[in-house]
Amino acid sequence: MKLIGISGSLGKYSKTGIAVKTALEFATASFPGAETNLLPLSEFDLDFCDGRNPDTYEGDTRTVIDIITAGDAFIIGSPIYRGTYSGAFKNLFDLIPNDALKGKAVGLLATGGSDHHYLAIEHQFKPLFGYFNAYVVPGGVYANNTHFSDGKLADENILRRLEKLAHETVRLSGLLGQVYKGPAPPVIKRESLKAS
Ligand SMILES: Cc1cc2nc3c(=O)[nH]c(=O)nc-3n(C[C@H](O)[C@H](O)[C@H](O)COP(=O)(O)O)c2cc1C
Repeated sequence: MKLIGISGSLGKYSKTGIAVKTALEFATASFPGAETNLLPLSEFDLDFCDGRNPDTYEGDTRTVIDIITAGDAFIIGSPIYRGTYSGAFKNLFDLIPNDALKGKAVGLLATGGSDHHYLAIEHQFKPLFGYFNAYVVPGGVYANNTHFSDGKLADENILRRLEKLAHETVRLSGLLGQVYKGPAPPVIKRESLKAS
């Protein structure tokens, strides 16, 4: 199982990157079979989406699109900018193909300067992944600046919640794998409601 971590911060010392990395570590500690790959957007030189066919991008943009498309499950985080995800984060999800996340498990997290925008995960992030027909783990983890210390996530409560998010994302991915490996559901022909 390929578990991909995505951080939507372009900051060099990113709290979002730390939180996503920590969640991936929780996943591999409990599920050693999980192959993880962390994609901090700060390390890739992504094109701006200009509406062309995603197949035609090259370089870092091609690399990132291919890694995400091949992923089975995702831990995805962004810093909160102006009450929602960062512009870099949105650009990434404008670049990837419509079906890249379809039927796949996604665990969401956000970091903010304060707790003012913790509901952004529900009201801003989740609709984006609804667009992609992904299965989002209920809840999500929101960490503020005070939860970090010495370049680490230091808050025990947030750490436990991140661990739970990582575990639930991997478990949901396993369950979805079983669902999607099964036979195709029967096609039910609907009768026309129009009077003949
Ligand atoms: C342009 C900008 C806008 C921000 N807007 C918000 C905001 O609306 N709400 C909030 O809680 N924090 C806001 N912040 C603070 C960041 O969300 C916070 O510091 C975050 O943890 C940074 O993540 P990073 O270290 O991964 O880059 C903003 C920061 C910047 C630079």
